Amino acid sequence: MSTLLEVSGVSVSFDGFRAINNLSFSIGPTELRAIIGPNGAGKTTFMDIVTGKTKPDEGRVLWGDENASLLRMSESRIAQAGVGRKFQRPTVFEDQSVFDNLMMALKKPRNPFKVLVFRPTSEDEDRVVALAEEIGLAAHLSRKSGELSHGQKQWLEIGMLLAQEPRLLLVDEPAAGMTLAEREHTTEILKEAAKTRAVVVVEHDMEFVRRLDCKVTVLHEGSVLAEGSLDHVTKNKDVIDVYLGR
Ligand SMILES: Nc1ncnc2c1ncn2[C@@H]1O[C@H](COP(=O)(O)OP(=O)(O)O)[C@@H](O)[C@H]1O
Ligand SMILES: [Mg+2]
Repeated sequence: MSTLLEVSGVSVSFDGFRAINNLSFSIGPTELRAIIGPNGAGKTTFMDIVTGKTKPDEGRVLWGDENASLLRMSESRIAQAGVGRKFQRPTVFEDQSVFDNLMMALKKPRNPFKVLVFRPTSEDEDRVVALAEEIGLAAHLSRKSGELSHGQKQWLEIGMLLAQEPRLLLVDEPAAGMTLAEREHTTEILKEAAKTRAVVVVEHDMEFVRRLDCKVTVLHEGSVLAEGSLDHVTKNKDVIDVYLGR
């Protein structure tokens, strides 16, 4: 299978502490991947490196068919290249409707004056409706986003990221604070999204990871400890030792 993102031999230290230690990781163009690992394993730092927020001390981060180096790109250039990231706290515009939030995400002109004069076409409107269907909010398009439940806001934010058509979507702990029904729906959204792009999900909730039913990468002390199906990695002796704190 071809590779969309290839991280190889990446290390980064903060004040002498190696948060990422010779990390190698790759993901294909249409793949769902879960990253698990104890607190401090380097999961968020990994996402910071891929998105350009943190520059590593060593290693390579290559992107796409041309093997472009993400390390030479700014955060905004990396986002333009097709890397989308969802943070834990949703950043939807609470006073705006679901429809308007999705529409703004669809266009996102960099120039604020263009936002003022922006007039959506009927194709834009169709696209917003299709996105709302994809995230399960089609019945809520005219509602103010501030009225949505915590889970619905998270889905809206995923929809706003999908509007940008990322080739790689990075999602950090989406299930936190969700009800079981919300977690189940989130699983479906991410599985569907990964049919046409790469999706990397960091998550603590093992039931959530099980439902994702995908390849799992276990991080520990900034390196890959094990990789494979959830059943495979949870039988790994090193993984068991780490989780039992041995
Ligand atoms: N900007 C930073 N400055 C100093 N230390 C950091 C910074 N970012 C992360 N760390 C440290 O790096 C380690 C890995 O953190 P993190 O990637 O957040 O782990 P995880 O997301 O797996 O819980 C932790 O020990 C954390 O304290
Ligand atoms: Mg984290």
